[in-house]
Amino acid sequence: AKKKTILDLYKMKENGEKAAWIVLYDSCFASYAEEAGVDMILCGDSMGMIVYGNAGTVPVTMDMSIAHCQGVRKGAPNTYLIGDLPFGSYHISAEDAVRNAIRFYKEADVDAVKLEGGVAVADKIKAITEAGMVVFGHIGLTPQSSASMGGFKAQGRTVESAKAIIEDAIAVYKAGARTLLLEGVPEEICAYVHKMLPIPVYGIGAGIDCDGQVILAADSLGMYKNFTPKFAKKYVDIAAMATQGIEDYVKEVKEEAFPAPEHKYKISGDPEEFAKL
Ligand code: KIV
Ligand code: NA
Repeated sequence: AKKKTILDLYKMKENGEKAAWIVLYDSCFASYAEEAGVDMILCGDSMGMIVYGNAGTVPVTMDMSIAHCQGVRKGAPNTYLIGDLPFGSYHISAEDAVRNAIRFYKEADVDAVKLEGGVAVADKIKAITEAGMVVFGHIGLTPQSSASMGGFKAQGRTVESAKAIIEDAIAVYKAGARTLLLEGVPEEICAYVHKMLPIPVYGIGAGIDCDGQVILAADSLGMYKNFTPKFAKKYVDIAAMATQGIEDYVKEVKEEAFPAPEHKYKISGDPEEFAKL
């Protein structure tokens, strides 16, 4: 299939076709996702937890993000790819935000960049957009600010918090973001924002009333054992399959069942000459 553009995403919204995107960080999984026909891939800063074993996403750097994004792009050359601006890469100034967004485009061939926050980062969204790049907004449960939220907690459950999310959604839209992702909010809030904004609104842990869904490959394929959010569905259990496979390998090495004849190289030449070595 031909790689999608932002216009295709708008067309999908117009036609009521839901977009399915997935979060992953390497070329192998990117190739599986492309073959499976995913609409978009996010090389998320959740790599800080899934790949690097941190408790959160805060330690992720630009260099880590770029390196993983490059791998994903090579594995999925024809899939819409979103780079995830890591914590600290767009907070200091609009200039810094533009510089780092440019790195994703120049070095990792992304189609868009995503950043977290609403009213507070509207100037950064505007600056990146004005430089000719596509920004995906991300509000609600924003893992980069988990310290100020007191952990990974659903947002918008009280009227006051819901109002703040709606204000954030408006700010993100007005700043020029081309799509918006809502994470960890009640379905009613997502439905409201979806109805309110003319741009595609996607959800993760935000119910079904929007233009599409995102999920982490780590959650949906059962790779990450430390924690599974309430909103994740496990489609396969890679952790169990991988552990079983490695157990079988260890056993076969001990029993000398591996390597078998088909795994061995054969000599070429006279076996008798080799026997004299
Ligand atoms: O990094 C990530 O995995 C994300 C998703 C939660 C959308 O930003
Ligand atoms: Na992220």
